[in-house]
Amino acid sequence: MKPVRATACSNIALVKYWGKRTGVPAELNLPAVGSLSMTLDALRTETELCPASADAFWLDGQLVADEQATKVWRHLDRMWSAAGGKGSRPRAEVRSVNHFPTAAGLASSASGFAALTMAAAGAFEADLSAQALSSLARQGSGSAARSIFGGFVRLDRGEAADGSDCRARPIAGADHWPLALLVVQTTAGRKPLGSTSGMEQCRETSPYYPAWVGTSEADLDAAESALLARDLLALGRVVEHSCFKMHACMMATDPPILYWNPTTVAAVQAVWQARAEGEPGFVTIDAGPHVKVLCERARAEALRERLAAVPGVRDVLVATPGPDATVGPLPEASA
Ligand code: DP6
Repeated sequence: MKPVRATACSNIALVKYWGKRTGVPAELNLPAVGSLSMTLDALRTETELCPASADAFWLDGQLVADEQATKVWRHLDRMWSAAGGKGSRPRAEVRSVNHFPTAAGLASSASGFAALTMAAAGAFEADLSAQALSSLARQGSGSAARSIFGGFVRLDRGEAADGSDCRARPIAGADHWPLALLVVQTTAGRKPLGSTSGMEQCRETSPYYPAWVGTSEADLDAAESALLARDLLALGRVVEHSCFKMHACMMATDPPILYWNPTTVAAVQAVWQARAEGEPGFVTIDAGPHVKVLCERARAEALRERLAAVPGVRDVLVATPGPDATVGPLPEASA
């Protein structure tokens, strides 16, 4: 096993993944719907993996020993068998750092599992294609499958029972279109309900879930076409439609799931107001209270200023399309 350092950027889903396929092995973590994302340069995770006498997982300088660590060890076991490793997996020290300009509530499993996948592949000297790495990352966390690639990425749902046609594919590079994503922070806390449980609750109790799943493929095709045509208006419409359908589906669960706070709504309304005044931005919201705004890079500063002035907004950071995930040897000084 070689000491390595891997880097992966987080991503924002422009067309959302929400829900898991049933009737297939849960271990594969196959999505019920495809998704389409932009990898974000400003939200980056760096993960070092070194041989050790016992497993230890450090996240942002803190030793972690809860279910998060269990997921890390399970993922390393998965990577060890994918690498063709014989016998038990070597023990490892994992040091992961989220280089996010502001930490609060933005840390994502997407960049985390993508970086861990790259690191493990490097450390175990696995000869795997980017496609295979992406599928392995998906088993750690669905959104991580997209973070293996830079630029704009589509993750196909697929139909095969073994998940072999659930694939992430880059549809345009980071330099395809100078877009920006503003991350509008509306609170400092962590989200109360994780995505995995939220998705299951939707599938089990939301009457809107079948409609959510049934309309997703059309959104993906519309978003891909708009992206390739660099048509912000067309892309933005799908982005907002996908986001609000997902949240409507969540709100209709029993008990309801509402990730928003009053500042979330105020920020959405500020974006719509700006748009009415000729400053085009389009909102999306994940399983949390922050608002993400898609716009052209040239308009990002003007929109950032407007959003920073919304009462309750703590910070606004600007991200642009980011690069592929990478892995390399650990520099001497750190090894
Ligand atoms: C709302 O990838 O965190 O951000 O596969 O259960 O780990 P698991 O879920 P996760 O879900 C992401 C949900 C989302 C939308 C998206 O990123 O597509």
